[in-house]
Amino acid sequence: DVIRWLAGESEYDTALATGRPKSGRELERYRDALSGDRDRPSYHVTPPANWLNDPNGMIHHDGTYHLFYQYNPAGPYHGTVHWGHAVSEDLVRWEDRPVAMSPDPSGPDRDGCWSGCAVAVKRVDDADGDAGSGPRVVPAGDDADSSVAAGDADAVYALYTGGRDGWQRPCLATATDDDLTRFEPDAANPVIRSPPPELDLLSTPGEPAHFRDHCLWYENDRWHQLIGAGLQDRGGAAVLYTSRDLREWTYEGPALVTEEADPGVVWECPELLRFSDGDLIHVSDYEDVRYFRGTFDADVGRFRVDEEGVLDPGAFYAPQSLSTPDGRTITIGWLREERSAQSGWDAGWSGAMSLPRELAVVDGELRQRPAREIERLRETRLVDDRLTADGTPERLDATVEAFEVRARLDPDDAPGSAVSLRVRESPDGAERTAVRIGSDRVVVDRSESSLDRDARDAPVGVAVDDLDRPLDVRVFVDASVLELFVNGRRALATRIYPTRHDATGVSIVADAGEGTDPGRGPDGGTNADSPGVDVDLSM
Ligand code: FRU
Repeated sequence: DVIRWLAGESEYDTALATGRPKSGRELERYRDALSGDRDRPSYHVTPPANWLNDPNGMIHHDGTYHLFYQYNPAGPYHGTVHWGHAVSEDLVRWEDRPVAMSPDPSGPDRDGCWSGCAVAVKRVDDADGDAGSGPRVVPAGDDADSSVAAGDADAVYALYTGGRDGWQRPCLATATDDDLTRFEPDAANPVIRSPPPELDLLSTPGEPAHFRDHCLWYENDRWHQLIGAGLQDRGGAAVLYTSRDLREWTYEGPALVTEEADPGVVWECPELLRFSDGDLIHVSDYEDVRYFRGTFDADVGRFRVDEEGVLDPGAFYAPQSLSTPDGRTITIGWLREERSAQSGWDAGWSGAMSLPRELAVVDGELRQRPAREIERLRETRLVDDRLTADGTPERLDATVEAFEVRARLDPDDAPGSAVSLRVRESPDGAERTAVRIGSDRVVVDRSESSLDRDARDAPVGVAVDDLDRPLDVRVFVDASVLELFVNGRRALATRIYPTRHDATGVSIVADAGEGTDPGRGPDGGTNADSPGVDVDLSM
């Protein structure tokens, strides 16, 4: 019914024709219509209805956090994407706003306003000769790096990829007001007319050159822009352009190219993040978000890699970041669905955002932890206890679908054993998800998460063998989303789809020794000893 109503004639068609729902009330109606869906997260951002993918244009402007996102108002599938919009005062409680950017029927973005970023700028009148076509612009805004104070911004620009007839072109749009309600496309679009001819870009049927997604920053008196690309016989690349006015761009060459032979792969959504202790570029390669830690040298326009890895091996994709007024880097990723497309279609919505996480490079090491603002979501502490996981499942005195649980333990206290935290467990045990904490890995065992055979059931995990003890594992469960963080170092966001309405139990149990399937040990367990666990559960 939801689908029929959403895809129906009347009101919805008007919304579609104008590219945005008419009012906030309409968005509320979308949400209300889906409120009975047990898979809908409550404290993670979701689309009001229909399809959501990448976060876009993340910015803190005039005291408000803005999160735009790839949004298809036509249904819960990837189609002609618009920029949906949510706002927040604190990064954790978000409100819907009407669609902020829509394809221009006669523009280079006719087939979609694809991913991009937003910056607040100030215009500078210095007619110094070598400026481009427009006035020079410099960063404004209230993030810590900007040179000009918040109130001084003259404009907020979005730089995004316009899709038309399979071509991907960088486009610029300007916000019409300080609430960033609407972005209007620039008359100069596309601002880069074609990809660099010296690069042999991957072309696939229907897509002549893969050249998309944008990351923007200012240094050495110039705007720098990374664009994601795929090289025909080689694989992913992040290419660099510079500009003084955001309209006229000079190609500077690839800032980073894959070292592996990965033909067919495109590096989507590249982002450069700079920290006092080192720089990071992350790219999304269809499968994973890969990070490269090292140094960006603006003088030569190249990134030197010291170390690489995977940011999050789960359903986390195409993340984007913003700086908070106090100088933290906050990153949010799209959490893909891991069930059948049909289920998404039946549900009437698809896609969620990860929790905001704080990224940093400290002592030459990547750190990831939940943004501290998330603690504001805690309402009630249900359990605060030291438990001994002795092989008998210990049910925590809580039945919950949306909660945070923190477990501190030293798995080396009982070598070979592991402790499983079971969540979304039905009383008859037919459904449950086990977060299995061992000394080498923390694994989310999804083999029994759902009776829906189409829901992905492969285990996902992160290595923890090199982390300090005790392990400090924070698990966030929110309907179909499960995110975990270990020691502020490792992160993993995944999806689970319990079908039982009573799959709300939480328990803790010692597992059989390593070597058996994670989390599949007999209920009685086989290990005599296992570590004591400090458990803290809030909702
Ligand atoms: C990544 C991506 C981007 C593109 C956008 C289109 O998920 O494919 O490369 O800009 O989504 O929605």
